[in-house]
This record gives sequence, structure tokens and C-alpha cells, in this order.
Amino acid sequence: MTLKPIQIGSVEIKNPVMLPPMAGLADSAFRTVCMRFGCGLTFTEITNAAALVRKSWRTWLLLATTDEERPAVAHIYGRNPEEMAEAARRIEAMGRFSLIDINCGCPVRRIMVRGCGAALMGEPALIGRIVEKISAAVSLPVTVKTRIGLDPEHHNIDEVARVVEESGGSAIAIHARYASAGHGGPADWDALASVKRQRGIAVIGNGGITEPEDVEKMFAKTGVDGVMIGRATLGRPWIFRQVSDLAAGGPGNWLPSDSELLDLIREHTTLLFEMKKREAAFRKKLKFPPEASAALTIRPHLLKYLNGRPGIGEVRKRLNELNSVEAVCALSKTVLRGLDSVS
Ligand SMILES: Cc1cc2nc3c(=O)[nH]c(=O)nc-3n(C[C@H](O)[C@H](O)[C@H](O)COP(=O)(O)O)c2cc1C
Repeated sequence: MTLKPIQIGSVEIKNPVMLPPMAGLADSAFRTVCMRFGCGLTFTEITNAAALVRKSWRTWLLLATTDEERPAVAHIYGRNPEEMAEAARRIEAMGRFSLIDINCGCPVRRIMVRGCGAALMGEPALIGRIVEKISAAVSLPVTVKTRIGLDPEHHNIDEVARVVEESGGSAIAIHARYASAGHGGPADWDALASVKRQRGIAVIGNGGITEPEDVEKMFAKTGVDGVMIGRATLGRPWIFRQVSDLAAGGPGNWLPSDSELLDLIREHTTLLFEMKKREAAFRKKLKFPPEASAALTIRPHLLKYLNGRPGIGEVRKRLNELNSVEAVCALSKTVLRGLDSVS
């Protein structure tokens, strides 16, 4: 497998293996960790375009990035083309993003009842108007992340991809499941191949990659230009390193030693601490001090990092006690072996 750069409009992304948006998990700290392991492109968490226009600082905080998160994509949702174009204009003015991505795939009820996210798949013409308006408002390339349809009776990804291309979109990222399936069940890679055959814009495949070898399989089976790895990065951000190693002819099975994993947990929690400190500067009232907030936010990642280790039950029981970087590391150390050399 060779990892070829992917051209998205005027922007060349050197490594076509990406981290997709994952609300609540792929925050700036985790995205930075993934970039350090060689991820090619990251997407922000889902961000409400209308709230950006209203200048909600809470929403703007979702678009905060570190300098290492380059290139980065601002991932927004909405359904009003003018409002989304205005949000895109303001995002471009930040000067921190390479692409603007429109969410047309989120199946969460709270988003869909407002006619946003995956609900837009039922209105391909509106997707077209949104892409057109945003493309006219900004010079950054515009992309769409979507599903293969609302449900098996409404499989319309070929039509949606055509509309995106004809409206000036530069890439389409496709989570190869129906919105009705949530994140479960098999991903339909044939649907990715079908879109790739028909379209001239970049096609990014997503869904069902659990091992580095699956990246190679997805490229070979579908011909897509880029690949996103979602849940398989949780507790295993080094999968990006494994994929690059595989592409370079290596075994693609690099694993951190226990002491390297402890270092990674410290690094990730520290990045969260820094992120929470930056956020605290904008908040009038703090529910938790930044370090305690970082310790709270690392919890789902910590369970993934330590998954399968004897002693994970104890970690689960003591998660509520965590309130500092040191407490997170001390608890992690209780289940990691071979740490004699780690102070
Ligand atoms: C916790 C979580 C949050 C997600 N949030 C978003 C989101 O905000 N926007 C989006 O387009 N997809 C979102 N997704 C979907 C992922 O981007 C990806 O399409 C999906 O997980 C399938 O890829 P995978 O099989 O590699 O995990 C989310 C997925 C998870 C697990």
C-alpha cells in the first residue's frame, strides 16, 4: 500500500489517513495526540453554525485548535445556507482551518428534529444550496460528511454525491452506513466504490476500519482517495503510526511499551489540562478547576487505554476520585506492568 497525498480543491493533504469528527471524544487534545502519531487530517467536533453567528463563546471554543492540528477541518452543522455561509466566513477569518466541512450524517435526534445532520439527506437540493452558498462566501474548499442514506429504503448517496460535486464541493466523506444504523452493523464499502466510480471530486471512505490492514483493504476495494479511522483510534491513537509503518513495508504492529503508554496517558491528560486552562479564560464561572476537568475528560480515553488489563475493574471503581494529572498517572500505574524504570 502506498499512501498518496489527497487533493481537496486547492488543498493538498499529504497523508490521506484521517481522524473523523467524534463529538465529546475527538477534542483538541485527542486530535493533537493523533497528529503526533502521524494522522493526516483532523476534524473539529460538530459545531452549530447558527450559534457561531450568534457569537456563542461556548460554541467558538469548539473550534479552538493547537498549532499542531494543521491541517484541520472546521466541521459545522445547520440548514440555513445564508447562516452557514456567514459562519464559514468567520471561520475562514480565524486563519486556522484548511477546509470547511458540512455535517450531513449525524443521526442524533436533537440534531435531526431540527432538519440538520442526516436529515439533510432527505433534501439533497438543500445540501446543494448550502454547498453553493458556503463556496461563494469563502475561498477554503468545502466538503460534506454524510451517510449512504437515511435507511435502506432511502439509499441516495449517489445522488447526494452528485449534488455535492455539481454545487462546487471539493470532497465527500462517506460513513458507509445508513443513518438508521447509528454506528452498528457492517459498513457497505460497495457504496463507496460506486460513488468513487461516478465522481471526480475526492472521495473519503469511512466505517468499519478496526485494524491497520483494513486501511489497505478499503483503498484496494473501493478506490477512495482518503480513509477515516474513527472508533479504532480510541485507546489506540498509535494506529496512525501502524498504518504508516505498514505503508512503508513494515509489519504495522508497533505497540507502546507500558512505560510509553504511561507517558502517553500523561501527555494526553496534560494536553487536556492545557485545553481546559485556555477554556477557563473565557468562562465566568468554573464548574471544576481546569486540572480536575482534564481528569474528568480523560476518563473514557483512560478506560480505552487500559482496556483488557487485569485491574481495570479497580480503575473503573476509582475513576470518580481523579482530579489531577498526577492522580490519573498514579491510577494508571497500578495496572501497568514493567514500570520499574518509570519514576
Ligand atoms: C462518539 C462519537 C461521536 C461522533 N460524532 C460525530 C460528529 O459530530 N460528526 C460526524 O460527522 N460524525 C460523528 N461520528 C461518526 C464518526 O465520525 C464516524 O463516521 C463513525 O464512527 C464511523 O467510523 P468508524 O467505524 O471508523 O468508527 C461520531 C462517532 C462517535 C463514535
